[in-house]
Amino acid sequence: MVNKVSIERLSTGVEGFDKLLQGGIPRGFFVAVVGEPGTGKTIFSIHFIAEGIRVGDKNIYVTTEESKESIIKQAAMFGFDFEKAINEGKLVIIDALMGYRDDPWSLTDLDVESLVNKIIEAKKYLGYGRARLVIDSMSAFWLDKPAMARRYSYYVKRVLYRWDFTALLTSQYAVTTSLGFGFGIEHVADGIIRFRKGVVRGELRRYVIIEKMRQTEHSLRMHEIEIVNEKGMRVKAPTMYRKEDTVLPTSVAARMLAAELKKLLEISELGENEET
Ligand SMILES: Nc1ncnc2c1ncn2[C@@H]1O[C@H](COP(=O)(O)OP(=O)(O)OP(=O)(O)O)[C@@H](O)[C@H]1O
Ligand SMILES: [Mg+2]
Repeated sequence: MVNKVSIERLSTGVEGFDKLLQGGIPRGFFVAVVGEPGTGKTIFSIHFIAEGIRVGDKNIYVTTEESKESIIKQAAMFGFDFEKAINEGKLVIIDALMGYRDDPWSLTDLDVESLVNKIIEAKKYLGYGRARLVIDSMSAFWLDKPAMARRYSYYVKRVLYRWDFTALLTSQYAVTTSLGFGFGIEHVADGIIRFRKGVVRGELRRYVIIEKMRQTEHSLRMHEIEIVNEKGMRVKAPTMYRKEDTVLPTSVAARMLAAELKKLLEISELGENEET
């Protein structure tokens, strides 16, 4: 007889998403949330934190590409009161964009060690117990040294592992070729959630696919999602993957790919220099 293994899972807070994952993300997992600009990574992360606030988890949101105010405003558009959660000591937003000197939760240096220290400080402030962490995005920390992506991701996971976090780490993707900007996060991650977009008959559509989730019999289908004002993100029905919906004409893609390869060659040369 097969022993039934029971795994504690955290709801993502996105309607229709948890059932693609046997109920949610396993506690303690570090999950990469990847995709092109505007595909929904930040909004997905906001839902995950809003759900944490609702169920009484400790919550930390690190924002590198938008200000803290922008995240609060975006959350408010979907009916989540992040301001209140901050005042009640349920949420800390670490602002790594603005670098306000008078905000103790502002991050003035974009280096991984300061980031990890700040996160631990925030966790101590929030107190003992199950916690949710979002780092949106990780790419910002290796902007000028992409060859370090994997090492940095590993460092973050190794140090933060003991602090009872279930974490989403977002990362951008090159718009057309789907090559990761700072590949490496996926190998370290326990799961990969990939957002995609495409124009179908003149209309922008967004999709999500779970590419990896350890210890989980997850959906293998690409699902269409929608983002609705005052409501937020919702998973729609599974969709047939049509290559032409998400891929550029071959000639354009080939040119972009050539440019990416050139960049990668430069990166690997940079990496070799860093190793020595
Ligand atoms: N209130 C709203 N109502 C409906 N759609 C919205 C609303 N707010 C944002 N959106 C949609 O969500 C998109 C932004 O999604 P999101 O910020 O999650 O993208 P992202 O993947 O984080 O992008 P980036 O990599 O640039 O940070 C907008 O481009 C818009 O289409
Ligand atoms: Mg974003």
